[in-house]
Amino acid sequence: MNVLVTGGAGYIGSHTVLELLNEGHEVIVIDNLSNSSKEALRRVQEITGKEVIFYKEDLLNKQQVDKIFINHSIDSVIHFAGYKAVGESVAEPLMYYDNNITGTIYLCEAMKKHGVKNIVFSSSATVYGDPHKVPITEDFPLSATNPYGRTKLFIEYILKDLHVADESWNIALLRYFNPVGAHKSGQIGEDPNDIPNNLMPYVSQVAVGKLKELAIFGDDYPTHDGTGVRDYIHVVDLAIGHLKALKKLNSNPGLAVYNLGTGKGSSVLDMVKAFEKASGKKIPYKIAPRRPGDIAECYADPSKAEKELNWTATRGIEEMCEDTWRWQSKNPNGYKN
Ligand code: WQD
Repeated sequence: MNVLVTGGAGYIGSHTVLELLNEGHEVIVIDNLSNSSKEALRRVQEITGKEVIFYKEDLLNKQQVDKIFINHSIDSVIHFAGYKAVGESVAEPLMYYDNNITGTIYLCEAMKKHGVKNIVFSSSATVYGDPHKVPITEDFPLSATNPYGRTKLFIEYILKDLHVADESWNIALLRYFNPVGAHKSGQIGEDPNDIPNNLMPYVSQVAVGKLKELAIFGDDYPTHDGTGVRDYIHVVDLAIGHLKALKKLNSNPGLAVYNLGTGKGSSVLDMVKAFEKASGKKIPYKIAPRRPGDIAECYADPSKAEKELNWTATRGIEEMCEDTWRWQSKNPNGYKN
């Protein structure tokens, strides 16, 4: 199939492009490189021995997006492109609503115009807000506590309304839990622009000596060791979940929503210990106050994806840490080497 991947040079995008190429798909990537590197795509092509068609473009550039649909007969779209920093979204809400929502509307308008009605959307467990219990199933109430999370929630509603208006659209909403890890080669991985907001890139930068010590945001949560519990999922498992969702769209499912998680919760201290074992490095840390907006526990019930997509996450936290360390130790400055 000819698959257009928006944000395909990013962390999850590049890992998904690699799996798409390995499965024999033709891949066209549009990415404005605001939070990604073209080097990631060069390396994906080196690893797979396959070519990617790349456009350095912004979804807000309607004319350029239209040209891509004119020049390529696209069968399906996987839509990753979007800003994703919670803190930044609170400071710059308009930038987040314009980039994430207007960009998605322009993409869907181009798809509609060119008769492309298969889309996989990169949503997030953040749409569950602070769940009343765990594990989380897809029918849980939805809410958002910050502009970033609201963009994910609003885009889900936009896509649901699109399907109600025209049931020939096939739409998969994939709610990711906490993506971590890297491809086995250590050639591609997570490369945040600035100081990482997320736990695992922060820990790996402490291990490689770029950052001094980890601040653990609270150890007084009602969890097994007092630190926050999340469902960490290997980025390669996540990427494969996208290929399964793409395949599902070919059976005309209409609108389908799936949690992509392992179903297991790990605490901050669990991840620190696993990373120390994987890297052989001590991770110095201090206990800091809770981070506003953080919740105690969040992990998936992935049984719907297992049943309907024939997909299960197979990689555990040890492998996530080993693969992250291989990437980080080979690329201390990410793609900027
Ligand atoms: C995980 C745990 C922190 C950093 C966010 C987004 C979510 C999704 C994934 C995009 C928490 C603790 C973290 C640090 C720490 N992103 N922590 N010190 O908050 O679960 O989810 O990323 O879709 O939308 O909200 O991930 O990695 O930031 O935090 O103690 O320096 O690690 O308190 O318990 P989070 P995270």
